[in-house]
Amino acid sequence: MRRLYLSTTVVFWLLVAAFWIGGGWLSPAGESAAIATERLITAKELSKHTEPGNCWMAIRGSVYDLSAYLPQHPSPPEIVTSWCGKEATEAYDTKTKGRPHSPYADELLANYRIGMLAPAKPR
Ligand code: HEM
Repeated sequence: MRRLYLSTTVVFWLLVAAFWIGGGWLSPAGESAAIATERLITAKELSKHTEPGNCWMAIRGSVYDLSAYLPQHPSPPEIVTSWCGKEATEAYDTKTKGRPHSPYADELLANYRIGMLAPAKPR
């Protein structure tokens, strides 16, 4: 009886270890699958979204659809809308007057991410 108890316990912990190690192998694969399916947006596609109601910007390698956010932005609208359809990292990082946005602005920005800016093709 004691032997049965011991062997059952050993098998149980072996199974726990197997799932734990297996889980460790599986999750990085899951992450790379997520990266592989991320939307790649070309500069050409970005450049088609230039209206306040249809405004995409590339900031630090990511593309954001800011259409829903623009009406809430605290500056006069044209300061931001002039960057729709463009690479706007420097404008975002400096607010065009040498001052960075707050960490709160960075948090807001993350909500509007729609994909990655595709690397430019070599000519
Ligand atoms: C890329 C073009 C952008 C420009 C040129 C720009 C410029 C500005 C300016 C001039 C102000 C007001 C004055 C000041 O606080 O110094 C401001 C404030 C602010 N902007 Fe922008 N902005 C841009 C994009 C964005 C985006 C994409 C977000 C977030 C989704 C954002 C979020 C905010 C917030 C939350 C404030 C209040 C102050 C702060 O938290 O830093 N802005 N921005």
